[in-house]
Amino acid sequence: MSSSPPAASVEVSFPAGSPAKADASAAASSARARWTAGANVFEYGAAANPKMAPIPVLVHPPALHESGPTRVIPFDINDTLDIDTQCTSPNLMASFVRVVEGESIATAAVATSQAFYVIRGSGETSSAEHGVVRWGAGDLFVVPVTPGALTHKCTSADSHGGAALYWVHDGPLMDYLGVVPAAPKFAPTLFERERMLAEVREIAHAAPAGGERNRLGVLLGNKACDQTKTLTHVLWSLLNSIPANDVQRPHRHNSVALDLAVAAKPGVYTLMGKEIDDKGEIIDPIRCDWIPGGVFVTPPGWWHSHHNESDEVAWVLPMQDAGLYTHQRTLDIRFVDDELALHRAGRIRGSAFAVTCKQYTEMVDLGAQVPHEKVEGMKRVWSREEVKGEGGGMRRVASYQRVGSAEKIADEE
Ligand SMILES: [Fe+2]
Repeated sequence: MSSSPPAASVEVSFPAGSPAKADASAAASSARARWTAGANVFEYGAAANPKMAPIPVLVHPPALHESGPTRVIPFDINDTLDIDTQCTSPNLMASFVRVVEGESIATAAVATSQAFYVIRGSGETSSAEHGVVRWGAGDLFVVPVTPGALTHKCTSADSHGGAALYWVHDGPLMDYLGVVPAAPKFAPTLFERERMLAEVREIAHAAPAGGERNRLGVLLGNKACDQTKTLTHVLWSLLNSIPANDVQRPHRHNSVALDLAVAAKPGVYTLMGKEIDDKGEIIDPIRCDWIPGGVFVTPPGWWHSHHNESDEVAWVLPMQDAGLYTHQRTLDIRFVDDELALHRAGRIRGSAFAVTCKQYTEMVDLGAQVPHEKVEGMKRVWSREEVKGEGGGMRRVASYQRVGSAEKIADEE
């Protein structure tokens, strides 16, 4: 765009010499001064990639929730991030909630999504909005915006004299935006431990011939998030296992991961770093050992690999803001061997946005504009199923597809 922005002004007529005109003029000048006071104008090259406080690799150790009184134990590192209010990452807040057996505690957050994973113990969580849900170790539940409090009660403790919950919510994102969620985006949802483990067993059973998978994981999806397949529209979680004496090669994504080590013997760890070499190894990695019940931060965009040098399977439960990134088409998850293959082919890719250049040019060829009117219950699709036209030529066909169906209905040429 090379045109100048239009000048904005409002002309008001006053009699010449009128005091009202002088007052109005002074008020306009004052308003203009106020509006311009906050404006910065930067040189693009110098300011396009501003120096942001880096997201550090830090650990929230399990000893915090293994003893002591009933309390919330926030993993608050906002000072290191130059953020004014409590947070663990720019968008998320992670905490432990310890509840001594027979006691209860109320928690509240201004958040679109709250997730609770039960590290240990049995109990129930109640609220005016969602009623009561009973839980045990290994269960995970999420609730949408909840103006009131959630009260967590420990009814039975198997160890350490109480229950422990891993609590993650997107309150910091609300705070950054300056908003309060207006409406629930999903229903309260419980993921039972047994169901998750049964799915993992099923995947293991269906392992491809020629070897076991080295990533036996289940993504936790909410029925309300059909397209993103994520825990909520903002939160993402995975129950991931690594077999004994195995390695999960590096991958990276734009979301920040807040990983809870669920179960691991000594010798299980994550390596993480900014770059990989031509063998796909992480250069100068930071090693973060998995301590069961502890949480560690994986910075956005960093390559990370998981290593199990013990003789038992290890389990990890990452919580991320990847529902939001997936919705934005900016998660950009990359696996190291795909990247190495591209690099060897002399190619550098941009984002992992699903539409390829070729598909885009085909869309352009088809007309690449909104082709026809919206119809209730239908979505508009670009059809590549062109039909023979008069004289043998090809005709462009735009089509509708019933919402929730794969059936295309050719509609227009
Ligand atoms: Fe990851």
